[in-house]
Amino acid sequence: MKKTRFDFQKMKIEGEKVAWLTAYDYPTAQLCEKVGMDMLLVGDSLGMCIYGYAGTIRVTMEQCLVHCEAVRRAAPNTFVIGDMPFLSYQTSVQDAVFNAGRFHKEAEVDAIKLEGGRRVCPQIKAIADGGMLVMGHIGLTPQSSGQLGGFKAQGRTAETAFELIEDAKAIESAGAFSLLVEAVPPEVCKIIRDELTIPVYGIGAGVEADGQLMIVSDLLGIFQAFTPKFVKKYANLGQEMEKAFALYIQEVRNKSFPLPEHTYNAIEGEFEKLKITLSSRK
Ligand code: KIV
Repeated sequence: MKKTRFDFQKMKIEGEKVAWLTAYDYPTAQLCEKVGMDMLLVGDSLGMCIYGYAGTIRVTMEQCLVHCEAVRRAAPNTFVIGDMPFLSYQTSVQDAVFNAGRFHKEAEVDAIKLEGGRRVCPQIKAIADGGMLVMGHIGLTPQSSGQLGGFKAQGRTAETAFELIEDAKAIESAGAFSLLVEAVPPEVCKIIRDELTIPVYGIGAGVEADGQLMIVSDLLGIFQAFTPKFVKKYANLGQEMEKAFALYIQEVRNKSFPLPEHTYNAIEGEFEKLKITLSSRK
């Protein structure tokens, strides 16, 4: 059965960790649901993992919605979160509510996520007041990587850690149902987890978070551009795919593929009839 925000809240209270992953396509989401993944995020990381962009800035609402729809179809019993892309919520509270609503109306997500601390709290409040579930996201927020000076760990000084804690508390007060903390020292994530009553999940934020998120392309070893320090590759599918593609090319070229078992037989006697037809045409 699909988990709800109340299940996630209970899991926090009982110290049960939430395992979740990004997913962008039907087959991946279907397999995730099959093995009991707690949640799926259709992250705007799809810009890098699927479309080959250098970052997430170019990702559009339309791209996010198409991938959310596929994931929703594949995993009807999994809690699915749509990730609001750059400029879908920063511009105004109205834009934020409208676009959060599109994720729900057009892709039937269970919640949306948006990046930023106190400066996006008016948007978080307005979306929550509109009856939707919002997950906050602080620390390394890729949509502001320009301001952050790149994809860098955050909250490593007392001053910046303090700011993150203040952001986290404001996000909870604005009505978010959970918070994601990215690339911060584990000690800082633990303080945030302890100070907040809502679940606090981590990606690159240590084991104390209420649950862990990973990017599916990192976990599977498919993403080639770079590997963040916090990534653990649970498989090396990139290498496996390369091997399979290279073997296919070789077998096509040396005619060892396809073999008779990969082909269809004509119905008995029909090929002989065809030969007669063809020879009578000469
Ligand atoms: O888009 C995404 O996948 C994310 C993660 C990097 C946290 O927001």
